[in-house]
Amino acid sequence: MKAVVCKALGPPEGLSVEEVPSPRPGPAQVRVAVAAAGVNFPDTLVIQGKYQLKPALPFTPGAEFAGVVQEVGSEVRHLAPGDPVVGFAGWGAFAEEAVAEGTHVLRLPPGLDPVVAACFAMAYGTSWHALQDRAHLQPGETLLVLGAAGGVGLAAVELGKQLGARVIAAASSAEKLAVCRRQGADELVDYGQAGWRDAVKALVGQRGVDVVYDAVGGAWAEPALRLMAWNGRYLVVGFAGGEIPRVPLNLPLLKGYSIVGVYWGEMAARQPREHQANMAALFGRLARGELRPLISARYPLARAGEALRAILDRKVTGKVALLVK
Ligand SMILES: NC(=O)c1ccc[n+]([C@@H]2O[C@H](COP(=O)([O-])OP(=O)(O)OC[C@H]3O[C@@H](n4cnc5c(N)ncnc54)[C@H](OP(=O)(O)O)[C@@H]3O)[C@@H](O)[C@H]2O)c1
Repeated sequence: MKAVVCKALGPPEGLSVEEVPSPRPGPAQVRVAVAAAGVNFPDTLVIQGKYQLKPALPFTPGAEFAGVVQEVGSEVRHLAPGDPVVGFAGWGAFAEEAVAEGTHVLRLPPGLDPVVAACFAMAYGTSWHALQDRAHLQPGETLLVLGAAGGVGLAAVELGKQLGARVIAAASSAEKLAVCRRQGADELVDYGQAGWRDAVKALVGQRGVDVVYDAVGGAWAEPALRLMAWNGRYLVVGFAGGEIPRVPLNLPLLKGYSIVGVYWGEMAARQPREHQANMAALFGRLARGELRPLISARYPLARAGEALRAILDRKVTGKVALLVK
């Protein structure tokens, strides 16, 4: 089978596409013929050795996929060969066949486009877990999303609206903000402009922001940490901006707010029941047409490196898909 291979840690240009043996599933695992894979920012970190998961070289990147079950391990009861599925593997999905834990693979609801399904779980799973489980976002609260036009950010905009929040989307260009508006954002702030914090202040007044969803970190974090409302929740989701911010701890003290970590993949491993309930709820909404994930670019498997480069160069809105079959 064909697979994208990372032989040395480094930029996407170092990846190759090669003929490799099919992966073998363990007793609790499933082997899937991949139809499409979702491309995510963490994939760009894994190939550079900058992510918390560090697979041994050589490896195939790619965290999430949709496809058809080929083989199930002896302990897997809920799936059989021929089932259309969606799954999460951590790595290995940028290939014609992938192996994942059975607990991380679920049957694709009828009628769902596998390309959409392949790009859905990480973005919506992360943002749902962040807003519902971690922030307990309430109707009427304000939600500021940093990196709002990206994969997890745009999902946070859409889910935040569905949870009844007033959503302020922050991104770096008018084009990206227009995408956020189409996804339901109430207010738009260009955080590429100096004084963007004042623009948010003008929207929220003295009260401040109830929940910040921070997917970028870097220089954007401190202004946002200074915008928090009393009893607010600051969600630490990611550091796409490149730098892990250092926080003056007097800020949460003075405003009585919480800084809350979000790690969707680890939550899925440690709390499989809650994770599966979240996924069932989200895929149910998707199947009923209640969610509209944006896939802005599609690449063939052979051009996986270009897809990853587009993410690193901030050229993407919403999600990027790899088409495998
Ligand atoms: N905690 C979790 O469980 C979890 C799960 C999934 C992803 N993440 C993390 O969440 C972050 C976003 O992931 P994603 O897949 O949504 O990525 P994405 O689609 O590439 O979105 C990231 C956004 O960050 C902004 N950005 C600012 N500086 C950037 C830079 N130097 N390079 C790239 N983007 C930059 C970009 O928007 P502007 O151009 O508008 O600034 C971009 O839209 C990543 O750090 C990822 O590792 C965390």
